[in-house]
Order: sequence, then structure tokens, then C-alpha cells
Amino acid sequence: MNRDIDHVLVSQQQLQDKISELGAQISRDYDGHELLLVSILKGSVVFMTDLMRAISIPCAIDFMVVSSYGGSNTTTTGLVKIVKDLDQDLTGKDVLIVEDILDTGVTLSHLMPMLRMRNPSSVKICSILSKPSRRKADIEPDYKGFDVPDEFVVGYGLDYDEKYRNLPYVGVLKPEIYTKA
Ligand code: XMP
Ligand code: MG
Repeated sequence: MNRDIDHVLVSQQQLQDKISELGAQISRDYDGHELLLVSILKGSVVFMTDLMRAISIPCAIDFMVVSSYGGSNTTTTGLVKIVKDLDQDLTGKDVLIVEDILDTGVTLSHLMPMLRMRNPSSVKICSILSKPSRRKADIEPDYKGFDVPDEFVVGYGLDYDEKYRNLPYVGVLKPEIYTKA
């Protein structure tokens, strides 16, 4: 295990098993639909690449970069700005937003109405992690991997200061890693 990690919250095996389940469920639910997976960069990129391979129906993928105004490194506040937009038209598509973690929900609660204005058939959320105790916006993932406690988690795409995204599991950082900075 990485020496900066205090403990593992979700193991590589647990992630793999859950993603197989999610992929099968999404494949059933969207069968016959024009599914477009939208990954919110950068955190969801690891989940995206695993999830898309667990989906057995035809689907397209696209990427988006959003940033929140006035947010610090570990919190999200205020409105979102689209930094990199989607490459394609959403008309008639069934959009599934792929996220690393639904925390306060503020980011997606602002992004969803922006996407809905583009006339997709549907917009739903698939998030590998959720921190229900932190929720501020009235929003829940339609497809969810794991609930995690209110701790700053890293790995499986999630970073602290751009590090730890490559860890194959989700873990909690040792407190001294934050306080050192
Ligand atoms: P909201 O609060 O709008 O924010 O749901 C979601 C985004 O905040 C980031 N986030 C985290 N990133 N460890 C991280 O590495 C965490 O524990 C964490 N909590 C929130 C993340 O980018 C997510 O997309
Ligand atoms: Mg993120």
C-alpha cells in the first residue's frame, strides 16, 4: 500500500465487482437507447474507462471539464463554469454523467440544468462514490458504487494536489499529508 494512505476504504476487488454490476444494470436499462457516457474530468477518468468496458450495449463517450467559482482545493462552492465543453449535440441522446464522487452535489445540480437545455432524451448520474452526509443540493446518483464517510478520499481517479489518482483502490490519506502543506 502507498505509505501516505492511512487505510483503504474500497479495495480494487470491490471496485471491480461493483463495476461489473453497474455495467450490467446500465446495459439492461439503456438497451435500444442512444447512450452517451459523459465523463467529468479529471477525477472520473479511471472509473469511465472501467465502466465503459463493463457495458455491453453500443455507447458513445465524451468528456467535459467544469470548474466551480471560488472553490478551494478540498471544497466546492458556488456556480460551475464549463471549461471544456462536449464535442457533440445532445438532442435525442440518453446522457449518463460519469462521476468520481457526489459530495455536496452542488457541481452537478448546476450542470444538469445546463445539459437539459440541450434537449437530450434524459440525463442521469452514475457515481462510483457518494458522501451522503455532505449533501447540500437535492440530488442523488441514479447509479451508485459506494457510500463513503465524510473524509477526504483519494485514489481511483481522485487526487490530493494532483497526486494519488493512479492508486487502484480508494483510501484515506494520513492526516500529516494535509497538515504538512
Ligand atoms: P460536489 O461537492 O459539487 O463536488 O459534489 C464534487 C467534486 O468535488 C471533488 N471532491 C473530492 N475529491 N476527494 C477528492 O479527491 C474527496 O474526498 C472529494 N470530495 C469531493 C471531486 O472532484 C468531485 O467531482
Ligand atoms: Mg472531480
